[in-house]
Amino acid sequence: MTVNISEVSPVPSLFSPVALGKIELANRIVMAPMTRVRAGSSGIPGDLMVEYYRQRASVGLIITEGTYPDHASQGYVGEPGIATDEQAAGWQRVFEAVHAEGGRIVLQIMHAGRGTHPDINGGRRILAPSAIAIDGKTFTEKGEQPYPVPEAMTTAEIRAALEDFVTAARRAIEAGADGVEIHGANGYLLQEFLSPAANQRTDGYGGSPQNRARFVIEVVTAVAQAVGAERVGLRISPEVDLGDVFETDRDDVLATYGTLVDQLRPLGLAYLSVLHTEPGGDLVQELRRRFDGKLIVNNGPFGGQTTREQALQQIEADHADAVVVGRALIANPDLVERWQGGHPENEPRPELFYGPGAEGYTDYPFLEAA
Ligand SMILES: Cc1cc2nc3c(=O)[nH]c(=O)nc-3n(C[C@H](O)[C@H](O)[C@H](O)COP(=O)(O)O)c2cc1C
Repeated sequence: MTVNISEVSPVPSLFSPVALGKIELANRIVMAPMTRVRAGSSGIPGDLMVEYYRQRASVGLIITEGTYPDHASQGYVGEPGIATDEQAAGWQRVFEAVHAEGGRIVLQIMHAGRGTHPDINGGRRILAPSAIAIDGKTFTEKGEQPYPVPEAMTTAEIRAALEDFVTAARRAIEAGADGVEIHGANGYLLQEFLSPAANQRTDGYGGSPQNRARFVIEVVTAVAQAVGAERVGLRISPEVDLGDVFETDRDDVLATYGTLVDQLRPLGLAYLSVLHTEPGGDLVQELRRRFDGKLIVNNGPFGGQTTREQALQQIEADHADAVVVGRALIANPDLVERWQGGHPENEPRPELFYGPGAEGYTDYPFLEAA
């Protein structure tokens, strides 16, 4: 028998409901945004993606994989977009399938910034705050290639990128999403603006922590105005070293992200999602206090994957309002039931994380019916 802890204890449990703005979650397990590159060259979600998300609808909230708002911002071959009506229509089928199962789903809007290549984004220009390349390689249509040196964005291009986020958010909500998550993490465009290493601008978008936070504040504010703040979340990953953002100075990190959350607080966003190795540590908890809204957390991709014990503990210790879970949900579509009942778990197959077919995607078994 499973015991619903919320019935016997005043402390919220992982399996108790919570509201993130206008989004009502049946439990506090949130599916992490995870790029799975199954959308083909059209970027239109098809039957396979509909089935994948449908299978996982028992989590409190699904956050979709990173999705490009316009073609130039595509970061991976096979990544879905929401740049066209056809792509939005594909997402509408995903949202309807999740809703039919009683689930909730928000779309993660991801602009890859300099974290892409012309052989990924259809030969379009690569834009970033400054003309500095990531030191490394990425998988393109022609195999592995070094990241290109991006072009520093003009003020007009910064404005256009903001408009792309807004248009994408409108499309997602019109297609039936419960909300949108702005991807400000993992070294893509928005974190490139926050980073003192990637952003070497000398205008109002670079230099001081306040200036580096400006673009993210403008994007989130504009999206919130367009679709309603209670349907908008933001993901950040302070100090997480992906894509050469090198946020190594704690004082600078606190000044930058502190300004960001101070400015976002009055908006009344649905949630702040923080990826950090120490969700219960000083930095994340200070950002939570200053944000003064719902916080959801994830330990990041560097250690082992998020475990049941970790998730239970993070809620019990009140480090967050909900826990963002990635790889365990790739491998276990019915993870909520497994964690609630203490059942064994399937192991993920990392070699199949990135496409292209059903194997390692929709074929992980559910618990046997009792
Ligand atoms: C296959 C894969 C794809 C990912 N894609 C994204 C993404 O599109 N957007 C994002 O914000 N994070 C992405 N992440 C990071 C996850 O959201 C999460 O932070 C990470 O998997 C650590 O959580 P876990 O230990 O529970 O798996 C990805 C991680 C994995 C494993």
